[in-house]
Amino acid sequence: MSERFNQVAGEWDKGGIRQNIAHFVFQTIASRIALLNNMNIMDFGAGTGLLSFKIASMVKRVVGVDLSQKMLEQLESKNNSTLSVQPICQDILNTPLQEQFHGIVSSMAMHHVEDTFELFKAFYNHLKRDGFIAIADLEAEDGTFHTHGNDGVYHFGFEKESLRGTIEKAGFEHVRFHHAYTVQKSEREYPIFVVTATKKVVKSDLLERF
Ligand SMILES: C[S@@+](CC[C@H](N)C(=O)[O-])C[C@H]1O[C@@H](n2cnc3c(N)ncnc32)[C@H](O)[C@@H]1O
Repeated sequence: MSERFNQVAGEWDKGGIRQNIAHFVFQTIASRIALLNNMNIMDFGAGTGLLSFKIASMVKRVVGVDLSQKMLEQLESKNNSTLSVQPICQDILNTPLQEQFHGIVSSMAMHHVEDTFELFKAFYNHLKRDGFIAIADLEAEDGTFHTHGNDGVYHFGFEKESLRGTIEKAGFEHVRFHHAYTVQKSEREYPIFVVTATKKVVKSDLLERF
């Protein structure tokens, strides 16, 4: 799967649909979550950083996690002295990072991960107490969204209520779905949501406060 992204990395940012998705996903996240200048944020499946750099302009630091070295090379080439994203090529489901974040964002990567429950458990473990997630992906579709074929696509979008259950089971609360954008291509419509939630406070965390 990372082979496909390695091949298209050089052309990725030329895609107008991709730029639009990143723009509206960012707008949706920023209108729902207070992004603060003391926050450390992970962008999961950051790719070339289309979402990461928009987030980076508002927070202290963004780490862009991806499995495709070539996509991350494109991301790294956009770093400069005033705005940067730290690329990390690592499978965080198997090898967690040694860091917890204030929040995790992601755009259009979740459908490439086979086990969605394991993914949200990994997100949970990478978040500080009260940390948030803001994850964008397709609503359930019929498998026609990826015109290049469905290699490495494990989910044809997501049924929202079923996804809500998965996210809650992984330890999150306040799960809310927000419409971000609708992709129109080949006379079809593909709505994209951002789902936000917060890490559930467990009793032992509450005791720590006293
Ligand atoms: C459709 S692209 C989206 C890239 C970027 N978020 C954007 O909106 O342009 C999906 C990205 O997720 C990455 N990806 C897929 N599975 C992953 C995994 N298990 N861990 C990290 N990244 C993954 C791919 O390498 C690819 O760069």
